[in-house]
Amino acid sequence: MVAPRRWPAGAALFLIALLLAACLSSSDAALKKYKAAAVAKHKAPTNCWVIYNGYVYNLTKYFKSNAHPRGNAIMKPWCGKDMTRIFDASHGSSALSQLKKYRIGKLA
Ligand code: HEM
Repeated sequence: MVAPRRWPAGAALFLIALLLAACLSSSDAALKKYKAAAVAKHKAPTNCWVIYNGYVYNLTKYFKSNAHPRGNAIMKPWCGKDMTRIFDASHGSSALSQLKKYRIGKLA
């Protein structure tokens, strides 16, 4: 009888790490890409896209929810634009985790 071949633990771990890395990187690679000019077309609070750190977010539902502690008006001028600097200057980690829910793609 032929003895079953056993994989060394190191090889199995290496394969798991490889699979994990592929999953993590492909989730980012699978994101839709938008040019800044495409984002710029969504400049109304009823259809508001913004750029943050190279990613694109659709804030339309956030506007509808009226959830911003300072009100919608403060965000309005940033629809269609890159809000990275202003967002980083006025927010902590809790706001950042809320923002992640609205990610729709990344900048081409
Ligand atoms: C688009 C441009 C935006 C501007 C100009 C803006 C501005 C501000 C300002 C001035 C404050 C007060 C900071 C302070 O307490 O001194 C604030 C707080 C806050 N904003 Fe915004 N905001 C914007 C977008 C957003 C977005 C998209 C979210 C969430 C999806 C958000 C969530 C929050 C939260 C949760 C706070 C409370 C403080 C904190 O948790 O960091 N903001 N924002």
